[in-house]
Amino acid sequence: MKVAILGAAGRMGHMLCDLVDRSEELELVAKCDVREDYPRTWPAGTEAVIDFTFHEAVPANITKAAEEGVVYVLGTTGLTDEEQKSVEAAAKKIPVVQSGNYSLGVNLLLGLVKKAAEVLGIEYDCEVVETHHRHKKDSPSGTALMLAKVAAEGRDQNFDDVSIFGREGMVGERPQGEIAVHAIRGGSVIGDHTVMFAGDVERIEITHKAQTREAFAAGALRAALWAADKKPGIYNMRDVLGL
Ligand SMILES: NC(=O)c1ccc[n+]([C@@H]2O[C@H](COP(=O)([O-])OP(=O)(O)OC[C@H]3O[C@@H](n4cnc5c(N)ncnc54)[C@H](O)[C@@H]3O)[C@@H](O)[C@H]2O)c1
Repeated sequence: MKVAILGAAGRMGHMLCDLVDRSEELELVAKCDVREDYPRTWPAGTEAVIDFTFHEAVPANITKAAEEGVVYVLGTTGLTDEEQKSVEAAAKKIPVVQSGNYSLGVNLLLGLVKKAAEVLGIEYDCEVVETHHRHKKDSPSGTALMLAKVAAEGRDQNFDDVSIFGREGMVGERPQGEIAVHAIRGGSVIGDHTVMFAGDVERIEITHKAQTREAFAAGALRAALWAADKKPGIYNMRDVLGL
C-alpha cells in the first residue's frame, strides 16, 4: 500500500516515517509538511494518507483525499466543530479512520472505563486526568475526551450536560454525576491518562502510560491497511481492533 505521511517533520511524523520504512506491506511515497524542504502534498497514485498535523490543516487535506478516493487515517486532535464537519463530509466518499489515540492499550482502556462506569454508577465520582509534554497545543487531550465520553455513555448520561474542564475559585460542592477533565503539561511526557472513580468507601484508578510514540504510530499504520477495503464512513480504532 502506497502511503503518504502528513506532518512528516513532527514528533509523530518522524516515528511514522521510520515505521513505514521498516514495513513490508507499506511503501512511503511522500513525506509532507509545511516546513521548508518538504513537499506540501502527496503524488497521484497514493492509496492512503496518514495525518498527524494541526487541526487547521485537516479540512483542505481530507477534502482533497475524498476527491481522489484515498483512504484517510486521521490522528490530529483538537478539531473545531466546523473542521469535524469536513471530516464527516469526506467520509461520505472515502473510508476515514479517526481516533484521538491509536494505541492498543488506550483502546482496551476505553472498554474497561465504560464497564467500570456502568457497574459503579453516579455514586462514584469520575475524574479524568491527563499529562502531556510542554509542546502539546490542544487541551484536554483527544484521549481524555474519549475516556470521559465513554464514562458518560456507561452511566447513560449526556456528556455535554455533565462534563466540566478544570476547576477554579468558589465552585461549591461537587454535584453528583459530574465528570471532570483536567490537563497537566510539562517536560517530555508522551501521554499519561488516569480515570478515577471515587466512592465513599473505596477508590478505583485506571491508568495508561505511553512509553514511546511507536504505540500510536503502529496503530495508525495498522488502521491504514485495515481501511483499504472498507466502504466510505468514519471508523475508529476500536473498529480496527475488533474490540
Ligand atoms: N491520535 C493519536 O494517537 C495521537 C498521538 C499523538 C499525537 N496526536 C496528535 O497528532 C498531532 C501532531 O502531534 P505531534 O506531537 O507530532 O506534533 P508536532 O507539532 O511535532 O508535528 C506536527 C507537524 O505537522 C506539520 N504541519 C502543520 N500543518 C501542516 C499542513 N497543513 N500540512 C502538513 N504538515 C503540517 C508541522 O509543521 C509539524 O511538523 C497533534 O494534533 C496531536 O495531538 C495524536
